[in-house]
Amino acid sequence: MVGTNAVSVALQKGGVGKTTIAINLAERLANRGNEVLLADLDQQGNATEGVGLADAYEAERHLGHLLDDDDPTTLGGIIRTTDAFDVLPANADLDEVENTIRSNTFGALWIRNQVVEPAVSGDYDYVVVDSPPDMGPLSDASLIATQNVVVPMRMSEQSASGFERMFTQQVAPIRQEMELDVLAVVPNVLEGDNEEKRIIADLEESQFGDLLPAFARSDHFDDPSSPGPGIRKRVALKRAWRDGQPLAAYDSESDMLERFDRLAAIVEEGTTDA
Ligand SMILES: Nc1ncnc2c1ncn2[C@@H]1O[C@H](COP(=O)(O)OP(=O)(O)OP(=O)(O)O)[C@@H](O)[C@H]1O
Ligand SMILES: [Mg+2]
Repeated sequence: MVGTNAVSVALQKGGVGKTTIAINLAERLANRGNEVLLADLDQQGNATEGVGLADAYEAERHLGHLLDDDDPTTLGGIIRTTDAFDVLPANADLDEVENTIRSNTFGALWIRNQVVEPAVSGDYDYVVVDSPPDMGPLSDASLIATQNVVVPMRMSEQSASGFERMFTQQVAPIRQEMELDVLAVVPNVLEGDNEEKRIIADLEESQFGDLLPAFARSDHFDDPSSPGPGIRKRVALKRAWRDGQPLAAYDSESDMLERFDRLAAIVEEGTTDA
């Protein structure tokens, strides 16, 4: 049974920060003493590249072979290691894998049965999945596999209610079939304009109020020692990705590390700290 030891960073459209949060959540979970597997289920391979494993994207053996019952490839055979955590890399063939999942009756369960369950009942304390931006079969399979999700949000949303609508549309159909715990909604790339004040305040009043971590709350606007709520816009996050490293390895002084650490604590505890 998979509990809060597996989490997808998912839902929402492209470019909100799923990959950035997945990489740094994985790193902070590892920093807290956990064995962590970061699974890149996005065909774009941004998480794979962002942890310095771009070459793995073209690897001969990959997730597709693991999911093929007639193939001897094992999970351990395709996992790669980095300084902080292990990685199940994305691969150029993931779109074909997605087609196979789509066309098989139980395809949606494969990631759960072949990746997440063996990982958490074996060598790993946590599996963090970087999900693709669309709501296709791999995205569904990642939610079904982890049953826990961290949802990034960008302030480019027009409003909290727009986000709420989109979120409900995505979560409701899944919840009809299974339990899906939203561990946190994480506002990302905040840079200090009035819009974000309004949206954070609206979010606190919305059904998501309880899902905002303490570091993402409006009292940070009034605290002169705080850089402001949420994951702030930090060029170091972009550069760390380009450098193929988690933020902690790229800039160990970054003020966002403790926020990713709080997020890791939320995942460990299975509930928001709000
Ligand atoms: N807090 C931040 N500060 C500065 N840049 C950021 C921040 N978060 C994300 N970015 C940058 O924004 C871009 C999109 O982020 P990211 O790739 O994590 O989003 P995504 O949701 O995974 O995108 P996709 O949907 O394409 O997978 C990247 O260039 C990333 O480096
Ligand atoms: Mg991504």
